[in-house]
Amino acid sequence: MTLFPQYLYIVAAALFVLSLKWMSEVKTSRRGNWAAISGMVLAIAATFLAYPVQHVPLLIAAAVVGTLIGIPIAMKLPMTAVPQRTAMSHAFGSLAVALIGVAEYHQRAPNVDPFTMSVLASEMILGFLTFTGSCVAFAKLQELIPGKPFVYKGRHLVNLGTLAAAVVCAVLLVLHPGRELLVPALAGFALLFGFLLVMAIGGADMPTVIAILNSYAGLSAAGLGFVLNSKILVVAGTLDGSSGLILALVMSQAMNRSFLNVMFGGVGAAPSGAKGQVETRSVRSYLPEDVAAVLDGARLVVVVPGYGMAVAQAQHAVKEFADLIEAKGGKVVYAIHPVAGRMPGHMNVLLAEANVPYDRLLEMDEANPVFPEADMAIVVGANDVVNPAARTQADSPLYGMPILDVDKARSAVFIKRSMNPGFAGVGNELFYLPNTMMVFGDAKKVMTELAAAVKKN
Ligand code: TAP
Repeated sequence: MTLFPQYLYIVAAALFVLSLKWMSEVKTSRRGNWAAISGMVLAIAATFLAYPVQHVPLLIAAAVVGTLIGIPIAMKLPMTAVPQRTAMSHAFGSLAVALIGVAEYHQRAPNVDPFTMSVLASEMILGFLTFTGSCVAFAKLQELIPGKPFVYKGRHLVNLGTLAAAVVCAVLLVLHPGRELLVPALAGFALLFGFLLVMAIGGADMPTVIAILNSYAGLSAAGLGFVLNSKILVVAGTLDGSSGLILALVMSQAMNRSFLNVMFGGVGAAPSGAKGQVETRSVRSYLPEDVAAVLDGARLVVVVPGYGMAVAQAQHAVKEFADLIEAKGGKVVYAIHPVAGRMPGHMNVLLAEANVPYDRLLEMDEANPVFPEADMAIVVGANDVVNPAARTQADSPLYGMPILDVDKARSAVFIKRSMNPGFAGVGNELFYLPNTMMVFGDAKKVMTELAAAVKKN
């Protein structure tokens, strides 16, 4: 291989590292995206220069078809559907890696040295299990199948047995690389294991599962990089593998759950205590005009955005409301919980889209000391991230999760459509407090009406 493609690979690898760094902050995330795109274009160009590539017209045709499918999906997809779209990307990526592994095996068999065979077998297991696991994650998030975890006594044993069978096939392949029938057997067990593993995890945990499947897909690609002697595949796969794992750990930590509990706890199978009880208390329902009257002269308002804001696409109406409060001399800040919405940074992205200044977004640790100073906390389609059951109800799936202290504000307004609970399915005591105002309706509609009422006052 000439040196020029190697230099291009180094630049591409540096761009991948920088893109991860830049994507970790809203301010620099667009730059991060461009860095990743440029790195990938360079890596592909270098590969064309470095290797005697065959069937170029076929490759170009495949790229054109992929682009024609990918661009409309990316442009039209609602933000709330990004987790399932990501799951599908992982499914196709990991299937591609696993199939290349199979092709490489057949090109080399029966003369495959033990190191190459063990790497090929491991990456095939990871690739195939990620494929079915990602398909199940997609189906759960898209509500094509129930989100409830499929749990039964002895499932861990069945799952472990299936994985063990795939590993036994891998070991046999290392010992007897000429036994080609072991490859479909390995693939079958790995596919079944991915399916069973993710079926046993609740829909609420799918975003975390997607992060870990991302990690598996990356590791699988890194393994293939060793076999193909492609340094860029090793670098990109390792970055993907480690960043996916770190993200899954951070998400588990933000929910105060152990990673093992997310993966193997079957959380979401049984209703929590609060969910099972029949509620007899009533709540006070208000109109946006009532809230505007209380807001008159407000100096500090904290907006707590949640999943409902994303569903309603209410971020622009929220910004319009905030501008009106500020025009009257008040200040509006936004309290962002790390797992508000359905994916990391979900609220930050939506609020950035509505041009909310970055310095108004407060992370949980910064926001909680602000609530006691606030005239009003306006909870826009959030529930679990403010639910005090996380502090008090030991049997609740939220127990132990740090929450935003909305109850410490002078008054709290909840904007939601009904009394339905949030993602974790746990009732919220805050709805019944004397200083809580419930405003029922779609978040965009209510925020638009609230802005109009504030303007009129
Ligand atoms: P949730 O607890 O899910 O509550 C969202 C609320 O929005 C619901 O109570 C719903 O009530 C309301 N809503 C839905 N559509 C609405 C609309 N069009 N207009 C107004 N309200 C609407 O959301 P959250 O507080 O953001 O908490 C996030 C949850 O997701 C946590 O349990 C978290 O652990 C979980 N989760 C998050 C992530 C990440 S990374 N963000 C990953 C995995 C899991 P109504 O139906 O009554 O309107």
